[in-house]
Amino acid sequence: MQQALIELKNVEKKYEYGKEILPVFKGINLRIMQGECISILGPNGCGKTTLLNLMGGFAKPTQGSLVFEHEEILNPDSRKILLFQELGLFDWKTVQQNIAFPLIFQGLTDQEKQQRIEDAIHLVNLQGFEKLYPSQLSGGMKQRTAIARAVVNNPLLLLLDEPFSALDQQTREFLQEELHEIQRQQNKTIVLVTHDIEEALYLSDRIIVLSARPSRIKKIFPIPFSKPRDPALRHTPAFSQLKKEIWCCLREEMKR
Ligand SMILES: Nc1ncnc2c1ncn2[C@@H]1O[C@H](COP(=O)(O)OP(=O)(O)O)[C@@H](O)[C@H]1O
Ligand SMILES: [Mg+2]
Repeated sequence: MQQALIELKNVEKKYEYGKEILPVFKGINLRIMQGECISILGPNGCGKTTLLNLMGGFAKPTQGSLVFEHEEILNPDSRKILLFQELGLFDWKTVQQNIAFPLIFQGLTDQEKQQRIEDAIHLVNLQGFEKLYPSQLSGGMKQRTAIARAVVNNPLLLLLDEPFSALDQQTREFLQEELHEIQRQQNKTIVLVTHDIEEALYLSDRIIVLSARPSRIKKIFPIPFSKPRDPALRHTPAFSQLKKEIWCCLREEMKR
């Protein structure tokens, strides 16, 4: 059997507030393969962000274990990058300086750094904008900068928490296409949390639908469309049919 890059074994998470306990999810079992793109959909508050935090090593499960490259995940490290909704760009640094930031800790020569930065800028089509500050950028360009910074160290795993939710529909579609291309070129493993079923369908190999809290995996949809995917795929009957099935599955949980 193919080796999983990341494996969740019977994962449970509860938060405690004094005497109160909030069970978020339990019994989560999942194997994510190298090069796979997985999307996680689920109602608000069902624990999607929490799940990404566990995979990134930013929090620990209450029970069960998470394994990355055969080792239990205990801490964050540069092989797995979590990109938050808020992006976290430094306002006082230029695009280029923001992208360069993760390289400070890598012990590279100036030339190696320069090459990596150039490659990352190229990858997200930000050539010509290197010297601008975040306040001078559109939402889409900020997002591109954050993606470039996330991939500059060539991580194995990208964890993306609703990365495009603040963008208008057109910009969102362009960025989805770019992310699709990055994943393909670099054979990245991606776990994407999103509210956008089309986004999940266009990008993913499998879509996981979580139930309402205390959540579990309600259903896993394998996505049959071959890659690379044409943006026009979104307008095919097969795409619409699957979108409807996933919507129905999700909708039941949102009403609970
Ligand atoms: N660090 C935390 N401490 C305590 N409770 C939290 C923490 N993070 C999230 N929660 C709670 O856990 C539940 C799941 O949150 P979250 O993972 O953010 O859900 P989602 O991303 O699916 O909307 C929510 O009820 C939230 O209030
Ligand atoms: Mg969230």
